[in-house]
Amino acid sequence: MSDQAAALREMISSLRPAPSRKPDSSDPSEKTAHIIAVTSGKGGVGKSNFTLNFALELQKLGKKVLVFDADIGMANIDVLMGVRSQYNLFHLLKREKSMSEIIQSGPNSLPFIAGGSGMTELFSLSEDDLLHFTGQIEEIARDLDYILFDTGAGLSKETIRFITASDECIVVTTPEPTAITDAYALVKVVHDLEHSAVFRLVVNRAMDRREAQQTADKIRLVAQKFLQLDIPVLGHVSDDPHVSQAVKKQTPFSIRFPNSPASKDIQELAFRYTQHSLQVRADSPKGIKGFVNRLLKR
Ligand SMILES: Nc1ncnc2c1ncn2[C@@H]1O[C@H](COP(=O)(O)OP(=O)(O)O)[C@@H](O)[C@H]1O
Ligand SMILES: [Mg+2]
Repeated sequence: MSDQAAALREMISSLRPAPSRKPDSSDPSEKTAHIIAVTSGKGGVGKSNFTLNFALELQKLGKKVLVFDADIGMANIDVLMGVRSQYNLFHLLKREKSMSEIIQSGPNSLPFIAGGSGMTELFSLSEDDLLHFTGQIEEIARDLDYILFDTGAGLSKETIRFITASDECIVVTTPEPTAITDAYALVKVVHDLEHSAVFRLVVNRAMDRREAQQTADKIRLVAQKFLQLDIPVLGHVSDDPHVSQAVKKQTPFSIRFPNSPASKDIQELAFRYTQHSLQVRADSPKGIKGFVNRLLKR
């Protein structure tokens, strides 16, 4: 293991906050990260910016978070952070690097795994490679509270697999009608495939709270009516020119402009997220074990 990897490992361990779950409430050997897939129907709605800044806010609240760029076509979390990615999942799957070696350190030491060509490889692994991969991911998940997957937009086979395997799917939409219909279409496809999938909505680029509410209501009502599915709203993020300015500077907006409307919204949203009890799926084991089972089944 390289010195850098050892340092990262150390960093992940040292980031551990005071336990937020009561120590006697569960078997410590069962501690496992909650797996969140952040997705959208339409591209360009702000998924990657949301994932990154949400992760940074969760980290500020004392949570241990890993961001995993699972956007196969347009992986760009590393660009948003201004960090050049050296290694990605591809190197792990090829067994050139270990999991701790492909985890890199972003702003505020946020651990992340860069996207890359590895993502498509994941689904055509030999039995042996698969065991290697799942062993590595299970090991890393023991030290984390959340793993956030930034998935590609749209309905590629790989994206659907990630979403259906996750503990929870955060669907990002904007108030535009095209984003709304695509968000609903995504929910429908995933729900039809996996009835126990759990969703939450984030309305990005809202003019105000009212527009966010109206946007969310449209999706909720249709999902209730046609899918008998309730999709709670996690919150909204204001349409804010600071976001684009921060992207141009390749610095997360919550770091560059911590007092901007979008940053305030995401702080509030992350706080509220940690106050809710985690969504639990009705099927198979929670956390990384269930995720790996579901991801690799069939
Ligand atoms: N809350 C926001 N306010 C203003 N502009 C935003 C906001 N969120 C995203 N954007 C703009 O949308 C662009 C695309 O965001 P990105 O996170 O890359 O979308 P996705 O990952 O869904 O493709 C950003 O570069 C930024 O210019
Ligand atoms: Mg993106």
